[in-house]
Amino acid sequence: MQTTIATTAAGALPLVIQGGMGTGVSNWRLARAVARTGQLGVVSGTALDTIFVRRLQDGDPDGHARRAMARFPIPGVSETVLRRYFIAGGREPGTAYKLLPMYKQVVSAARQQLTMLANFVEVHLAKEGHDGVVGINLLTKVQLPNLASLYGAMLAGVDYVLMGAGIPREIPGALDALAEHRAATIRLDVDGLAPGEAEYLTLDPREHWPSSPPAALTRPRFLPIVSATSLATTLARKSNGRVDGFVVEGPTAGGHNAPPRGELRLDELGQPLYGERDVVDLAKLRELGLPFWLAGGTGSPAGLRTALDAGAAGVQVGTLFAYCDESGFTPELRATVLAGVTEGRARIHTDPRASPTGYPFKVVQMEGLDSQDDRRTRNCDLGYLRTAVRSAGGRLVYRCPAEPVDTYVAKGGDAADTVGRRCLCNGLVANIGHPQPRGDDGVEAPLVTSGDDLLAMGAFLRGRTSYAAAEVVEYLLAGAAAATGATTG
Ligand SMILES: Cc1cc2nc3c(=O)[nH]c(=O)nc-3n(C[C@H](O)[C@H](O)[C@H](O)COP(=O)(O)O)c2cc1C
Repeated sequence: MQTTIATTAAGALPLVIQGGMGTGVSNWRLARAVARTGQLGVVSGTALDTIFVRRLQDGDPDGHARRAMARFPIPGVSETVLRRYFIAGGREPGTAYKLLPMYKQVVSAARQQLTMLANFVEVHLAKEGHDGVVGINLLTKVQLPNLASLYGAMLAGVDYVLMGAGIPREIPGALDALAEHRAATIRLDVDGLAPGEAEYLTLDPREHWPSSPPAALTRPRFLPIVSATSLATTLARKSNGRVDGFVVEGPTAGGHNAPPRGELRLDELGQPLYGERDVVDLAKLRELGLPFWLAGGTGSPAGLRTALDAGAAGVQVGTLFAYCDESGFTPELRATVLAGVTEGRARIHTDPRASPTGYPFKVVQMEGLDSQDDRRTRNCDLGYLRTAVRSAGGRLVYRCPAEPVDTYVAKGGDAADTVGRRCLCNGLVANIGHPQPRGDDGVEAPLVTSGDDLLAMGAFLRGRTSYAAAEVVEYLLAGAAAATGATTG
């Protein structure tokens, strides 16, 4: 007998969340392809402003960005951005991309509007032509653009917001405020503040509308990404607004990982060692009474089945989607890595130093895969991972341990913090085909991340060298069929 698996109807919870993958790996094409299957497609909002202006400078070949820009509701913004960044036919080969001013606590209205527009465009395109659900993923730690990113995504009707890499306790309240076009404020993390002193980030939507803003927006569901039940409990009880569920991510997941609990111990390859204390107590999590999805090594039918058996609503999967046809990774990069996986040449290194955030970060390593290393001439011109510091003179300065060492030290940083750091901003933007040319140094090299399960992808690939996002969803849903005793065919 042939049974069709019920897909997610509007309002119902997804079985599969296609995890947000920055920067630009989970772009609108991927999220749309997944949303069309009835599951949750998620665009990455991280560094989307830079990606957006680079697409425009590359001529927006299919016109998608410009089509979506025409729908941006705040008057005049799209026209200004087009004038400044769009190049018909694309840049002259080898010409450097025009950069955006790096984010600070306070930036111009035009800079905020550009971030809103970029996030609006991505979500608008992801939602175009179907009734499926679309989310946006942001990193809590990349604080400075987040309020503008959220508002732009909400103007496009984003259904879910997913945020990890930090404790997003003030985001639920910010979503409530932004949905009503009210000012949203979150606390800015600043090193070196005096006791009792605080700094804030604020976005007041009304300052961006020439007349009154439109009707209230839909408040998206909010799913924090956590690695421990204690964090889920804190967020469920102490957030300043509604939390709608959790993604629980283990240390085998692609991208950044939470550091192990307790003292950092490394294996013989210098990778963090995880232990019993890092295992999430799902029984306790269930007591919170909110839906949850398991992420990290759950990208298989068995992974989904096990998650459902453990009381989860489903799984969040990244790595399998990162190499599908609709992913933002360049076709060359996908082909190189998949060939390396098939031939057993690829490795995943969980690097505790690479990311300026201080979180362990997984890097794909293999011969023949160009990858950023210590030979890169340091240059900080995107700045998403800069953090604010109160300088001796009282001003806020912004620094990143991957920037030139003398600059970092001049801002009061410790040179030891700079060792082994990679420029994730430039590396990750290179992964998706927008590397910044650097004159005699060539172009910025990629820096590819994936989960540990990359190496086990053979079971899914079965000899294929390419596949569509919908095939990933179909593959995973076989696990739901097994869990409910149904069969697929
Ligand atoms: C290429 C790549 C980039 C990622 N970037 C992000 C990100 O920007 N934000 C985030 O919350 N998670 C990120 N992740 C994690 C995924 O959203 C997802 O939770 C994870 O990949 C699930 O584990 P899996 O890799 O075993 O499928 C990334 C994963 C990959 C593979």
